[in-house]
Amino acid sequence: MPQIEVGGAQPYTVTVEAGVLGRASVPHSRVALIVDAGLPAEWVKRAEQAFHPELTIEVPSGDACKTLEVLGGVLSKLALSNLPRDGAVIGLGGGATTDLAGFAAASYLRGVAYYSVPTTLLGMVDAAVGGKTGVNLPEGKNLVGAFWPPRAVWCDPELLSSLPPAVFREGAAEAYKHGLISDPSLLPRILSPGFQPGQPGFEQTLADAITVKAGVVTRDLTEQGERAFLNFGHTLAHALEAVTHHGVSHGDAVGYGMHYAALLSREVGGADLSGHTRRFLEWQQPKSLPQLNFDELNTYMARDKKADSTGVRFVLLHDLARPYLERVPEAVLRSVFEVWQSEVSPAQNLSF
Ligand code: GLY
Repeated sequence: MPQIEVGGAQPYTVTVEAGVLGRASVPHSRVALIVDAGLPAEWVKRAEQAFHPELTIEVPSGDACKTLEVLGGVLSKLALSNLPRDGAVIGLGGGATTDLAGFAAASYLRGVAYYSVPTTLLGMVDAAVGGKTGVNLPEGKNLVGAFWPPRAVWCDPELLSSLPPAVFREGAAEAYKHGLISDPSLLPRILSPGFQPGQPGFEQTLADAITVKAGVVTRDLTEQGERAFLNFGHTLAHALEAVTHHGVSHGDAVGYGMHYAALLSREVGGADLSGHTRRFLEWQQPKSLPQLNFDELNTYMARDKKADSTGVRFVLLHDLARPYLERVPEAVLRSVFEVWQSEVSPAQNLSF
């Protein structure tokens, strides 16, 4: 049973184990469970049997739940149930659900205990660990939120077995990113046929991908430094999500965004790692992109949270496991965008 310790002011454990949802519990007598409305009823039942919530709040699937309006509805339900300060909120769902549930926990009564049960690969390797919670604005993704680490995270690989293959592959983008920025041993393991729930070694690869994130957020919870490296590929990814109104999923957008970041890294003098990101896209088979306009995307990239008063900084790679932050001139962003677009256009080289 892999257990990953996350340090910081309030350390917690991420448990990765088939069937762990049925064995989880929390030391709170009053609990609210926030669940993705699209989850199988059996999983919600399993969570209710484990945590005995006094209310279960369903929220829309995916990023449709990450709005101020949905957040307001959830907070009202918590208030109407008189959930007390020593109560707890538990999020059950993919990365969007746990982002919303965590932010509801962070803001209700100025903060109640939060626990996370991610049900997607993306949620397990990234969103549920590290305490970034929040919602989107029409102006951009994740522009409102708080750092509110969970008290525990339970990753039950059994929940991944019934994910649609495209949703599973989508989530692998964040695990692959952890390979590129920190642990290259993950790269071939993720692309191997054994990277499937139930296969020998799957739990260990999942745990190793989570370990990368756990280490980073232990050292830099509030993104004063190295946590920004977790955003490799995300500057373009968030812009793709925004311009397509989330028609492109987060994991697919990260797959595309990592390839752009690899091409940018090469252009400004780093090693050529675009073979890795191209192979990942071929494996991931992300949803095709619509016709894109650089200037429109660049408007969103300029709002990236890594921007400071002097402009946007991209996470680039000198080489595998050697990330750094760099301002890239707009002319370079534009010319590399054209190279990237010629590769990711469905009519072009990649076989998806
Ligand atoms: N998903 C990036 C981070 O947690 O910092």
